[in-house]
Amino acid sequence: MNILFAASEAFPFIKTGGLGDVVHSLPIALSELGDDVRLVLPAYRDVLASVDSLKELGFWDLPGAGVTHRVRLLQAHHDGLADYLYLIDAPSLFDRAGNPYVHSDGFNWPDNAERFTVFSRAVAQMAKGIPGTDWLPDVVHCHDWQTGLVPAFLSMAHPRPKIVFTIHNLAYDGHFSYEDFTRLGLPPEWWTPDHAEFYGGLSMLKAGIVFADQVTTVSPTYAREICTPEYGYRFEGVLQHLGDKLSGILNGIDLDIWNPQTDTHITKNYGVDKIVEAGNNSKADKGKAGKSKAGKSKAWVSAKLANKNALLKKAQLPKSKAPLLGFVGRLVEQKGVDLITDMLAELFAATDAVMIILGSGDRLYETELLKVATKYPSRLHVHIGYSEDLAHQVEAGSDMFLMPSRFEPCGLNQMYSLRYGTPPVVNFTGGLADTVIDATAMAMADKTANGFVFHDVHADALLTCVKRAIKSYQQPEQWQQICETAMQQELGWTSSAKKYQELYKK
Ligand code: ADP
Ligand code: GLC
Repeated sequence: MNILFAASEAFPFIKTGGLGDVVHSLPIALSELGDDVRLVLPAYRDVLASVDSLKELGFWDLPGAGVTHRVRLLQAHHDGLADYLYLIDAPSLFDRAGNPYVHSDGFNWPDNAERFTVFSRAVAQMAKGIPGTDWLPDVVHCHDWQTGLVPAFLSMAHPRPKIVFTIHNLAYDGHFSYEDFTRLGLPPEWWTPDHAEFYGGLSMLKAGIVFADQVTTVSPTYAREICTPEYGYRFEGVLQHLGDKLSGILNGIDLDIWNPQTDTHITKNYGVDKIVEAGNNSKADKGKAGKSKAGKSKAWVSAKLANKNALLKKAQLPKSKAPLLGFVGRLVEQKGVDLITDMLAELFAATDAVMIILGSGDRLYETELLKVATKYPSRLHVHIGYSEDLAHQVEAGSDMFLMPSRFEPCGLNQMYSLRYGTPPVVNFTGGLADTVIDATAMAMADKTANGFVFHDVHADALLTCVKRAIKSYQQPEQWQQICETAMQQELGWTSSAKKYQELYKK
């Protein structure tokens, strides 16, 4: 089938979170299964700088907020992508440095409503025909609120392709005012509770949900959760109404990029079966593969220790055998960052654990974390910022990975940590509940345990769970079993990409 992916970010061009990873890796998986998948993104400055062979295919004059924008459709090439990349070029809206959604002061770009309305208008034009080609999509697959108006605009086209809309995070709904709605010249009939109006405002996410043919979200548990008031962000009614038009398909991960056996960001490569020096697949090293006995020093165990020591050194934490806890992520309420800050003093008093945190986000969390790090310089290292390099090193070098999210539509970091033999400690919610199996006596006995799970969004519950994980860490045989189960988990895209194909066919 011909599938047009529309999204506001994609690795490796521009990424703020897991959406970027999924928009990169799912099209590759679908292409491998035989679909012709093409991706369209806004032509942000960073994206234009990272592609080559730009070719102008055509242009449209599209209405924005009281002005008309000349919007160019560009075709670009990038080696990392299986098929085509299209860019919607409207310089006054997208040719800006930095983050796709927020200004350097952390506030939303003031013209976001206009930016993503014009982007959506352009994608809807593409879905009807791409200048200079006879390629037509059978399905347009839209992601998150930034593309929410694509299904709405396409609903007015006849004939039109089918539309799948995927919710990656219900907490961000692209909510704008009635003034924005009128300034953008959107059809007045959309201003009803059955369409894009939502509690007195315009919700682009709601437009996506209402006008799409099928709505998905990124894990089966989150698909159920969002139909309840606790997780529904007031969309529960709209979502319940969808019935079987709503489904949850678990994200996969890119097994090439997140592969401890080949990862060039880390000090020493490893895997359950083999160990090789980073960048040096020598036969001698491979020979050590899997020969050691449980409990004895296994090849992957010593390689992981080398990564841990390198990470400790980089973080200027003292070299020690104490358990190293890692965290990578956006520093926002969703991720339960406050649960971590609230339990650290007690954790440091009760155990010898050390921790490294990589993230950026809300200033309040950033400041609080830096404050705690100043208080415990030999126990906590906080890196505020965004670093692909360090993210890989934290996954590989930590002993365990903390993800106490209040809600988590899917979560990719816990899957990366599973793959790197770094058992995750997670709250039982969304995709975390679907991917992490708690190390209970029963799960240890049947060798399915791959991490640690707690059930109450509270610092005490997290602390108790971390202490339980540390106890297990102190029993190498038990710990290695959990790590090996984690590393052998099926985490790729194949099975989920097939589910998307079934949905497209439906
Ligand atoms: P979310 O999409 O809610 O942010 P996910 O777990 O799905 O959460 O995906 C987060 C992605 O963003 C991962 O690839 C993670 O490594 C990356 N990431 C988040 N914050 C940072 C950071 N500060 N530096 C590097 N990578 C980060
Ligand atoms: C969102 C969610 C995260 C999910 C990602 C990719 O950002 O917060 O849980 O993994 O999208 O689908």
